[in-house]
Amino acid sequence: MSTNMGGLSKPAIEADGLVKIFGTSRAVDGVDLRVESGMIYGVLGPNGAGKTTTIRMLATLLRPDGGSARIFGHDVVKEPHIVRQLIGVTGQYASVDETLSATENLVIFSRLLGLGRSEARRKAEELLEEFGLSEAAKRPLKHFSGGMRRRLDLAASLIAQPPLIFLDEPTTGLDPRTRTQMWDTIRRLVASGSTVLLTTQYLDEADQLADRIAVIDRGQVIAEGTVDGLKSSVGASSLQLRISNPLDLTESRRIVEQVLGVTTNISAEAGKITAPLAEGDKVTDLLIALRESGIALMELSVQKPTLDEVFLTLTGHGVEEDAAAGTDSSVLKQKEVIA
Ligand SMILES: Nc1ncnc2c1ncn2[C@@H]1O[C@H](COP(=O)(O)OP(=O)(O)O)[C@@H](O)[C@H]1O
Ligand SMILES: [Mg+2]
Repeated sequence: MSTNMGGLSKPAIEADGLVKIFGTSRAVDGVDLRVESGMIYGVLGPNGAGKTTTIRMLATLLRPDGGSARIFGHDVVKEPHIVRQLIGVTGQYASVDETLSATENLVIFSRLLGLGRSEARRKAEELLEEFGLSEAAKRPLKHFSGGMRRRLDLAASLIAQPPLIFLDEPTTGLDPRTRTQMWDTIRRLVASGSTVLLTTQYLDEADQLADRIAVIDRGQVIAEGTVDGLKSSVGASSLQLRISNPLDLTESRRIVEQVLGVTTNISAEAGKITAPLAEGDKVTDLLIALRESGIALMELSVQKPTLDEVFLTLTGHGVEEDAAAGTDSSVLKQKEVIA
């Protein structure tokens, strides 16, 4: 302990029962997190789930209304100055000065962090190159697109390469090529010793990057574990059935559950049944059983589970229906441990 001011052997993040209340709504409603150092940890959830608010509390930018959190053992409320030296945050805010060029902004950041003049310049050039911004380096920031800003923002957070980096939806709105580039950069950060907590709305992003994830919904962690664990709890694939006659819905559902041995979800208005599917061949059995019962299908598909299905399975509601379903937020949810 003595000289280890960073406490880097401690978990990068430990949060216990974090709460943030805005007006009457509990944006973050008792979030527990434990992130070991050296990993990429994904926080997966739909818009409005409480991801940004959670990060802002962990990054000392917002005071929790309840619970506590430590970064490498340092309390975010009692030791914010130490915490700030251990973290980098990228997100919705970016630049020093809009009228300055990308290079100038990075040089200023570097100088602020104590790099010498020539080292700052070298670092800026290196990062601009790495992020494919060399061409635009001399342009003032106010002419940068959203994607370019995002890349510059991440580049700036890499100058110091802090032990813990928060990336808030680093790829939302990026084109596929830039997105892949961003993934590579994030992997490189971790390979060179940082711990990364990233938020995302995309299951495949969590799948590509994260060693572990927490699924967050309406301010609560509803599942935690490895991505594989999460996927197997949802099923390796997801079967979707749309039946022709809505009156057959109940009977169809019974048959699906019986043949596949699983619990299904339905969206009644569309007459659609969704079920986790472990083995592909069971589909044949299912089709035979449905035909024998005289049930006609309109549509059948087998897909990799999407975030929507993960949510449907874990919460019993989809990602989209937020506002309508808001009233049951007081219902205690069973927290599922998936790995
Ligand atoms: N400063 C704020 N004032 C009031 N409500 C807020 C504020 N910031 C976030 N919220 C609300 O808190 C909830 C969680 O928001 P947020 O943490 O931004 O979710 P996410 O990042 O997962 O999309 C949302 O309902 C949002 O409208
Ligand atoms: Mg957000």
